[in-house]
Amino acid sequence: MAYPYQIKSLEEYQQNYQQSVMDPEGFWANVADHFYWRRKWDKVLEWNFKDPDVKWFTGGKLNITENCLDRHLGTLGNTPAIIWEPNDPEEHHRVITYRDLYNKVCQFANVLKNNGVKKGDRVCIYMGMIPELAIAVLACARIGAIHSVVFGGFSAQSIADRIQDAQASLVITCDGAFRGNKDIPLKSVIDDALIGCPSVKKVIVCTRTRTPVSMIKGRDLWWEDEIKQVETMGNPPCPAEEMDAEDMLFILYTSGSTGKPKGVVHTCGGYMVYANYTFVNTFQYQPGEVYFCTADVGWITGHSYIIYGPLSAGATTLMFEGVPTYPDAGRLWSIVDKFRVNILYTAPTAIRSLMGYGLGPVNHKDLSSLRKLGSVGEPINEEAWHWFKDHIGKGRCPIVDTWWQTETGGIMITPIAGVTKEKPGYATLPLPGIQPILVDEKGEEIKGNNVNGNLCIKFPWPGMLRTTYGDHERCRTTYFATYDNLYFTGDGCLRDEDGYYRITGRVDDVLNVSGHRIGTAEVENAINMHAGVVESAVVGYPHDIKGQGIYAYVITERQTHDPELTKKDILQTVSRIIGPIAKPDKIQFVSGLPKTRSGKIMRRILRKIAEGELDNLGDTSTLLDPAVVEEIKRSRL
Ligand code: PRX
Repeated sequence: MAYPYQIKSLEEYQQNYQQSVMDPEGFWANVADHFYWRRKWDKVLEWNFKDPDVKWFTGGKLNITENCLDRHLGTLGNTPAIIWEPNDPEEHHRVITYRDLYNKVCQFANVLKNNGVKKGDRVCIYMGMIPELAIAVLACARIGAIHSVVFGGFSAQSIADRIQDAQASLVITCDGAFRGNKDIPLKSVIDDALIGCPSVKKVIVCTRTRTPVSMIKGRDLWWEDEIKQVETMGNPPCPAEEMDAEDMLFILYTSGSTGKPKGVVHTCGGYMVYANYTFVNTFQYQPGEVYFCTADVGWITGHSYIIYGPLSAGATTLMFEGVPTYPDAGRLWSIVDKFRVNILYTAPTAIRSLMGYGLGPVNHKDLSSLRKLGSVGEPINEEAWHWFKDHIGKGRCPIVDTWWQTETGGIMITPIAGVTKEKPGYATLPLPGIQPILVDEKGEEIKGNNVNGNLCIKFPWPGMLRTTYGDHERCRTTYFATYDNLYFTGDGCLRDEDGYYRITGRVDDVLNVSGHRIGTAEVENAINMHAGVVESAVVGYPHDIKGQGIYAYVITERQTHDPELTKKDILQTVSRIIGPIAKPDKIQFVSGLPKTRSGKIMRRILRKIAEGELDNLGDTSTLLDPAVVEEIKRSRL
């Protein structure tokens, strides 16, 4: 498969960028023309950011799985679509060709149909990183069911919240998942979650760890049994459901600065075009290359760059069940060596943690197949960037530092591998179609170079979110109401003398812990649910490996006899309410929090204390009780 819209040089990038700004509709129509549509669109774009109301390729009809599977069968039927490497290196890997994947997706799509799933129904997927996860996702898309994948590290309570919000009617899970030296009892977590989820009628359980699980009669079904049923029916084909370009493809829950996580909604046509375009261009994918993204499908990176982007491009995507440090810190490099990986896309937090093991685990691994490297999820510090460049890429491979978000659907600001001149720590330049703008607090545009501001996007792109599930007003207020006529990213950003962009981090109350997005308010709510806790305030602080750590200031009803034990109890509560990923790294017991006279917590001060900047707290004159700050400083951890 060739990609006529793949940019090959800087001049071509500039031309394409210009065209995408002058004539966005013409530009995206040209790209979209290279996909398989059941019916072409009537209009490329209709939009306003006020409501917001954004529609791409209106009137167009398609099914994304026909673009990811059917259209490749003639040319790539025997080409590996997914290479799967298990957690345990002793276990056999699997290679699933495009033809195999097509058959398996159709089979499982028929399982879903046999269980009453119809177009528009919501299906919650809570699985480990096995090929059946990709099959489940694509099977939903095949029949027009809306998938909501929940990351395997979330608690029963978090899953229940997401299932209830989406009113999902079916859950797909596994008995358990292997991750490093842990077995995660997924089905048992689902059982707890389902106590409060009457919308769920069926649960399909795929076998992986074969830990004992309870199977409720009439509700719970084994994946394998259901597949057998379809086989006894003679494996009938499963024609793809015809979807409108603007029909929902999936919901993915993500944290914001307030309230519970919101269900970011992506639609079929625009998302497909954008995930594919950004994959093909950013990584300069060449047919036959083996591409390895280390993310989990539970996050947007896994959706766009393990499944939809690569498969729609006919690429070979490597899916890894385990973690980078199991059985040792050379695991990623062993995988690169074993499968002759050409493109490796990972997260700064993984690079930083692996750096800590020195070069021992890298030496003697043959990394000569690598051609391109990528980074995503958080700012990459220069030290990690250079280590990645020198010791993994051996100085030969371009690194793409890709900035984007769950809401953007795909990569927005990034170097194009081998085309854009890179600069460590910089996401560099916007891809064609993306019009970034920096604004000040009042929403005034900050023009010129060598400036800092809040990063907004002023024109729609096909992969952008359309709404937040069940609450369009929340979508408007969160992203489109801060500044008139702009999509606000929540990120701070610097534009340097070359016009290059460098993301400086969130300017709202959203933390980025090991590349996982967590709202401070969510963590506070979880801590406050612990018996004896009166109030808490959560901030981020710089953490050598995780990027940001979670620092919690907690007021308890009375002095605890054993503060260490109380801390552990609080961690347990946070694990139960959100999941282990949200556990604070530090808990400091305090008797009061710095508040303004109107009762607002001054987080700026708490952030400074957590960062260790004790002498530079800024103006504290508006505080109700300045003495509280002194006490917090004295007992700082
Ligand atoms: O703060 C930015 C940071 O991650 C946030 C988005 O998180 P999420 O929706 O979970 O998606 C992560 C994977 C796309 C952004 O608002 N972020 C993401 N990529 C980068 C980044 N920060 C700096 N540099 C990046 N390359």
